[in-house]
Amino acid sequence: MTGPRHMVHSVFAGVLFVLSAAGASSASAADRDKLLSEPGVYGTFAAFRINDEWGRLDQKVRSTQLNAFKAVVERHRDKLAIDTYLLRGLSDRADFLLRIHGAELKDSQQLLLDVLASPFGRYLSGELILNGMSKKANYVPGFPDGMKADLKAPSESGPYVAVIPIRKDADWWALPQDQRLAMMQEHTEAALPYHKTVKRKLYHSTGLDDFDFITYFETAKPDDLHSLILALSKVKEARHNRRFGHPTLLGTVTTLDQLIETLGQ
Ligand code: HEM
Repeated sequence: MTGPRHMVHSVFAGVLFVLSAAGASSASAADRDKLLSEPGVYGTFAAFRINDEWGRLDQKVRSTQLNAFKAVVERHRDKLAIDTYLLRGLSDRADFLLRIHGAELKDSQQLLLDVLASPFGRYLSGELILNGMSKKANYVPGFPDGMKADLKAPSESGPYVAVIPIRKDADWWALPQDQRLAMMQEHTEAALPYHKTVKRKLYHSTGLDDFDFITYFETAKPDDLHSLILALSKVKEARHNRRFGHPTLLGTVTTLDQLIETLGQ
């Protein structure tokens, strides 16, 4: 088919494609933005390993199972913001990771139950589940104005993702707010040189799993993440880290379609 009608059709198809690619992240972009930026939202990180047996299945069967897995994820996107990451090749702990944001933890639980109950899910083992929640900044309001302004500058994201859970010691929690504020100011001073190239998000997880925080980073420069962690390990606040990582997850940001394509190979 040629001519203007075809052109209109393909332009329209292109627009539809762009819209559906954007919408692939959630039912409504506005809801997704809210879930990712507002306080009081739950974040669940679920890392899965695929059993070797799955790789021996017929290619067609695997592809049908992956499509059913995709349908399960898509179905939950009306309530949840779901991000997918490929860990295989960079992390020995698991093959892929789901990061789920929702107003209710039970919605995230239902998604994971539905994934595990799907035909593909029978070949998956859950290697790690971390739960946390976003909260209003505890210390930033007490920082000097210049530092507050620096923190407002945008951060660049990138293909690499790192998830590092942290547990603090009891002494940290027993310190008065002003002492913790001073230490977090020192933390921020040391970290600010990397603010531009390392995008971060903090989840509070005390009581929701074995850690106190889940720290999440996206970057195009893993070398900056490395230097950042070294810089932060020198500040006083770091002495209160009782557990840092163990595990650290490293992977790449992928769309659901890319993930399915890679796993299906
Ligand atoms: C881009 C570099 C970073 C900057 C600019 C930065 C800045 C900050 C700021 C401003 C806070 C205080 C939030 C509040 O007011 O509640 C904070 C908290 C925190 N940061 Fe960082 N950070 C960076 C990287 C990191 C890294 C690499 C880690 C560890 C892997 C980390 C671990 C934490 C933890 C655990 C908290 C919570 C502390 C608490 O509430 O007790 N940060 N960070």
